[in-house]
Amino acid sequence: MIVNKAPMGWNSWNTFAEKIDETLILKSADALIESGLAESGYKYVVIDDCWALRERGKDGRLEADPKKFPRGMKVLAEEIHRRGLKFGMYSCCGLMTCAGYPSSLDREWTDAQTFAEWGVDYLKYDYCYRPWNRRGEELYRAMGHALANSGREILFSACNWGADESQKWIRTTGADMWRSTGDIVDNWNSVKDIIGKQFALLAYNAKGCFNDMDMLIVGMNGKGNVGLGGCTEAEYRTHFAAWCLLQSPLMIGCDVRNMDTFTLNLLKNPVLLSIQQDEKCMQVYRADSPADWNSERGESFAAARGLSNGDIAIGFFNLSDDVRGIICTLNDLGIGVSSGKTLEMQNCWTNETEYPVNGAILKSLNPHESVVYRAKIVDRK
Ligand code: GLA
Repeated sequence: MIVNKAPMGWNSWNTFAEKIDETLILKSADALIESGLAESGYKYVVIDDCWALRERGKDGRLEADPKKFPRGMKVLAEEIHRRGLKFGMYSCCGLMTCAGYPSSLDREWTDAQTFAEWGVDYLKYDYCYRPWNRRGEELYRAMGHALANSGREILFSACNWGADESQKWIRTTGADMWRSTGDIVDNWNSVKDIIGKQFALLAYNAKGCFNDMDMLIVGMNGKGNVGLGGCTEAEYRTHFAAWCLLQSPLMIGCDVRNMDTFTLNLLKNPVLLSIQQDEKCMQVYRADSPADWNSERGESFAAARGLSNGDIAIGFFNLSDDVRGIICTLNDLGIGVSSGKTLEMQNCWTNETEYPVNGAILKSLNPHESVVYRAKIVDRK
């Protein structure tokens, strides 16, 4: 499988954990369609951990828990496909899954076959309980080979939390995306921590295998499995804007059956999604001075990424608890005076057009606020 755009969808874990069943999954799939989120690109419906029986069947195959999924996974996959969506499932490369269900260790080929027969389009593959004498890269390669030979296109979503310097070997495994951080929880500290940990990993993010900053908490509002406190609207905006600018996959983690207007509008933000889905997948760079991510621990910064049509995405982020001014000059972006060019910048929140003043963009941002622009390079008048 070749993945050129950072994947988008919904995953059951953040809100529901083990409280999953066929009705919930299908109602969530329906909600993705009725809300217009599917049309915006959120196509994968992913069942996380806790879907299986605690023991394999007599034939050695994984079995869905019949209390939760009475018609089985093949029927569920058909139902999801009938809605024009794609179906994701979960397993683990260690001795058992993180929640203690059977894993795929040394059963990779059997399980990949089962997933292919069920009609699975996406496999999230976790890293809990790795045997002490087995290397992570070997275990992920094993599933990578099995999926690539399963006869079905199955997106391989590695979930190894950036452990064991996985950025250095994850592309040897066939993974299409890989978790570059530990688990997100629904509060500001978690968002800030995850953004801070990405700076050293930006060069690894590219088409074919995307850095996955973990599932979205937008819309959780403190509820559900990882709903530990919730965020303000500004904090959810900054979370979503950072995931889009850094081109992380976007897997919604809230209850899509009950979303408020703020959540829905944020998840559908067209400027941010056009940036997140850009197929050129250029590297994000620090775009303000000083260019050191570690200055004041990178708590306020500008970051930019070139886009396939020649535009530039430019984000201003204030992760600190004070009001901060952030300056990005046209020079920082590689647009020198000699070019005779400037920018026409579309503000992702207001949709209004703004221009640099005297060759610079100066933003004053309240604590935890951000703004991202999609900027066109135009002649200076
Ligand atoms: C790990 C993963 C989470 C989730 C749980 C399920 O913690 O990182 O995303 O899949 O396991 O048990």
